[in-house]
Amino acid sequence: MKPEILTSNGIRKESMMIKIAPSILSADFSRLGAEVEDIRLGGADYVHFDVMDGRFVPNISIGIPVLKSLRAATELFIDAHLMIEEPVRYAEAFCRAGADLVNFHVEADSEENILAAIEKTRALGKKSGVTLKPGTAAEAALPFIEKVDLILVMTVEPGFGGQSFMHGMLPKIETIRGYIERYHPLCELEVDGGIDKNTAALVKTAGADVLVAGSSVFKAQDRAKAICELKNA
Ligand code: DX5
Ligand code: ZN
Repeated sequence: MKPEILTSNGIRKESMMIKIAPSILSADFSRLGAEVEDIRLGGADYVHFDVMDGRFVPNISIGIPVLKSLRAATELFIDAHLMIEEPVRYAEAFCRAGADLVNFHVEADSEENILAAIEKTRALGKKSGVTLKPGTAAEAALPFIEKVDLILVMTVEPGFGGQSFMHGMLPKIETIRGYIERYHPLCELEVDGGIDKNTAALVKTAGADVLVAGSSVFKAQDRAKAICELKNA
């Protein structure tokens, strides 16, 4: 049974404003500033910055120097997704490099250390989120839910762009939407992996309100149109 998702005005949540966070993993890194300006003008709400260390995930992407350069190039809200082991070691560095929100995987460290990472982020005036891999149960978000600004549900195995959406994640998104309504209604619910105009409609109905999209935005001929289609899916 899908939880009935209503705001205090009685408006269904899925008809409320959806945010789009294009992932620069699918951008042309040789012209990153222009790529991000393109999606900003196209109506993106956040820019999603995927950090991979070759250990937590079997791939290596970008890190602190690129984040600093991007920060200098855009005013867009930067949503950093740390796919790294023991992220508490780098929480402050990513905040100082210019992230507006830092996402920590709950699988990447002890509960105590993830809480410490959230605290370090908050102490620097930045937002924080916790992220769940596909195999991690929804309940794993509960120790953090009242302390974070966002919960990120992975709808592919983290590590690579361009994978297929895992439909089996929809019940988890619904469960977490229920937790958010109960414990922290202002917390955002973001999804990441395989989001296009078809799967966007599914995750919105399940309760997501921030959609990460790499290939479906950056590989589109008309990125503004792609962002608009995701918002209105
Ligand atoms: C995967 C990353 C995603 C990825 C999404 O590990 O966290 O943000 O870039 O790419 P698409 O939208 O192409 O699945
Ligand atoms: Zn991501």
